[in-house]
Amino acid sequence: MAFAGFGTSQLRYDMFDLERSAAEAKRLAKCENIYHRSQVLAWDGKDVLGELLAKHGGVHVPEDKRRALERVFTIILWGELAAWKISAQLADRLVPLEAKMAATSQAFDEARHFYVMHDYLTALGFKPGRLDRAPQALLDLVLDTDDLAAKLMGMQLMIETIALSLFQAVREREVEPVLTELLRYYERDEARHVGLGMQYLPSLLAGMSRGQHMRLVTYQIRILYWGLTELRLVQDDFITLGVDPRQVIENVRKKQLAALGAAYEACGIPFDRDRNWAAMSLNAAVEMLFPVTRRAPLGTRARAAWAAFWHRNQPGSLDVFAPHQHAIRTARDVIATPDG
Ligand SMILES: [Fe+2]
Ligand SMILES: [Fe+2]
Repeated sequence: MAFAGFGTSQLRYDMFDLERSAAEAKRLAKCENIYHRSQVLAWDGKDVLGELLAKHGGVHVPEDKRRALERVFTIILWGELAAWKISAQLADRLVPLEAKMAATSQAFDEARHFYVMHDYLTALGFKPGRLDRAPQALLDLVLDTDDLAAKLMGMQLMIETIALSLFQAVREREVEPVLTELLRYYERDEARHVGLGMQYLPSLLAGMSRGQHMRLVTYQIRILYWGLTELRLVQDDFITLGVDPRQVIENVRKKQLAALGAAYEACGIPFDRDRNWAAMSLNAAVEMLFPVTRRAPLGTRARAAWAAFWHRNQPGSLDVFAPHQHAIRTARDVIATPDG
């Protein structure tokens, strides 16, 4: 509490005195780079959406797919607002300069995602309403936690990977031409946001006790529960859009394992040291809720779930993020290539 210049200030004068190892310094340099990349790759939402609408003569989609798009992208719209608020919370609370810069640039990106998605849904002739309970519960879990490691893991490594997988699936099915092109822009930004989680989470994990690690895994399981419930809620909409829900889940799983694996390995903790109960539960839940054969009997699902539960998880390659590096036209009117 501060009063008249006395007491504890919210200004962290010690922010430049924090000790960092060589490996942490390297990761923080990558966080700083996320901020600068965000500036170079910023795109003008008004311009891009306006051009796409003009190019395709507005939004054209059959009625049944329109309804499905509305339901799925209502979740995305409010998810973008949540991402905006969560990245702003992180920008305020992360102490090291470079991590603070990366979170601030994400807040800037998410503001653009939110208003552009709102404008797109308006062009679709849709006024978004309240969320269903599952997506609301998922977003509230991350919005409301005061634990920075949980917030960073929940947002940057778990919700972002769900969004990326969903965007990729809808884009690949070419459901609606304006959206297909627009999602390339979103994916390029969201993949960068996963980077903040991978680079800074290790700093928070490193100082945690075994008990704190277990609490984080419990939190992870709660996120996965609501994430899977949310995906189940819209699975018929996915099918209407020509998207295979199981394929989306598989994609989410690969991305989460790769991102979480990289974060754990960076602080010297083998990802599966204590058998990761969250990853094990996710494997089992996928077999129960999204079986390979859609109407598989309960016994078949249970057997597949049991086998999946005990399957040893491998973190996997970060190449799963490569498909999101699209060429985009930036606000500086430059075409940024996948490597540029
Ligand atoms: Fe976003
Ligand atoms: Fe994001």
